[in-house]
Amino acid sequence: MLARTLLLLCWGTCLGVRFTKLGVPGSISKGDSVLLECGYDLEGDELYSVKWYKDNVEFYRFMPSYKPSAQMYSLSGVFLDLENSNATHALLYTSNLETEGTYGCEVSTDVLSSIRTIKAGKELRIHVIPDESPHIYGVQSNYRMGDFVNMSCLFGPSKPSARITWYINEEEAVDSYTISQMERGESVMISESFLQFALEPALLRQGALFVRCQAILKLVHDFRSLELIVGEGTSGAQFQRILHVSPGQEGPSITGVMPKYFVGDVVEVNCSSPRSQKLPELQWQLNNESVRPEFVTTYPVLHYPDGLLSSKKGLRFRVQPDQLRGDEMKLKCTATFYDTVLRTSAETSLFTNNYRTSSFHTSLSDRSGADIPPSSMQWLVLVLVLCSLARR
Ligand SMILES: *[C@@H]1O[C@H](CO)[C@@H](O)[C@H](O)[C@H]1NC(C)=O
Ligand SMILES: *[C@@H]1O[C@H](CO)[C@@H](O)[C@H](O)[C@H]1NC(C)=O
Ligand SMILES: *[C@@H]1O[C@H](CO)[C@@H](O)[C@H](O)[C@H]1NC(C)=O
Ligand SMILES: *[C@@H]1O[C@H](CO)[C@@H](O)[C@H](O)[C@H]1NC(C)=O
Repeated sequence: MLARTLLLLCWGTCLGVRFTKLGVPGSISKGDSVLLECGYDLEGDELYSVKWYKDNVEFYRFMPSYKPSAQMYSLSGVFLDLENSNATHALLYTSNLETEGTYGCEVSTDVLSSIRTIKAGKELRIHVIPDESPHIYGVQSNYRMGDFVNMSCLFGPSKPSARITWYINEEEAVDSYTISQMERGESVMISESFLQFALEPALLRQGALFVRCQAILKLVHDFRSLELIVGEGTSGAQFQRILHVSPGQEGPSITGVMPKYFVGDVVEVNCSSPRSQKLPELQWQLNNESVRPEFVTTYPVLHYPDGLLSSKKGLRFRVQPDQLRGDEMKLKCTATFYDTVLRTSAETSLFTNNYRTSSFHTSLSDRSGADIPPSSMQWLVLVLVLCSLARR
């Protein structure tokens, strides 16, 4: 079976050593230690070596027939604890921003004096989540009706950047009120959003107006992808299929693909995400680059009877000469699963009607026959309150 293979150096019937697990977390917090696991079943073969790579550069090697059997090679961002690493695990005792990258494990076995090798890799992201909640700046000590409100909400530095949402009296602020921007640091980001609007009675609830902002961070939990290589270079009629998932996990699937395409042909394929409880985001890539949005169609989410979900994205384009690199073309679909972290600012009061009178409430609740909408009524009451204050 070609399906369940990892980034692999043997196709077709792949007897002998096989992976049982590739334990590389999707993301960790900067400073965390990380235990990398390379699980394999030798299937009776003899282990020759286990090697770990970060972005294709080796940093750890375990060879049982050598003394010492474990060796490390220093690499920036890789803090290997050699004492606690062995034939199946590599422990990084801490991490920094440079620890981010693709971690690959390569297992070789010695079979009748010939070496058989399997290799698998997964991406690890480093995130930075500040302890502080987002902060609101630019609040005046008091506001009057008609005033222009211009405040900002700042969050960070964080990695990845955050999406900021404003709430006015617990309702999400309309888009026309907000402007978001990002200030890039080297690899951490400050996220900022402005909330701008004219203070009008319609915005008040019970004569008050409260705002708060919320920062949402999306942290990668898992990547799963399927890559197809189509064209001349692939042997036989089958395209090459490279699945990047942990053993035992379901990956995305691609349908509608032909073994070969020529310039001018239309490629029309679908990618379905693996069935899961939470929907991942699907992304199409052509020759390592994101495809143009006009080539992509998003289909409705599929609900299975067991409660699991799957999403589908179609890709359709006409093959251009530069896309057939060396007569080969690489189609890749990645499903990214996210965890979200929410941080909310303190609630800020812009306007409180401290002079609420009972008539205010009565006029709101007693709307019999009145055509005046409640917001205008609040306005009237406020004007009255202000007038009576001014007269004092
Ligand atoms: C290898 O190291 C890991 C983590 O340090 C440990 O859990 C595991 O038991 C070790 N395996 C062997 C065979 O010593
Ligand atoms: C809002 O305030 C920021 C400073 O906090 C200022 O740079 C910006 O020009 C203001 N925008 C408007 C429309 O007044
Ligand atoms: C892709 O999926 C859509 C929706 O299910 C279907 O109509 C279309 O025929 C599919 N195309 C291919 C190439 O499989
Ligand atoms: C895609 O990227 C990989 C590694 O990042 C590289 O080896 C390969 O040559 C690239 N392929 C194309 C078609 O650019």
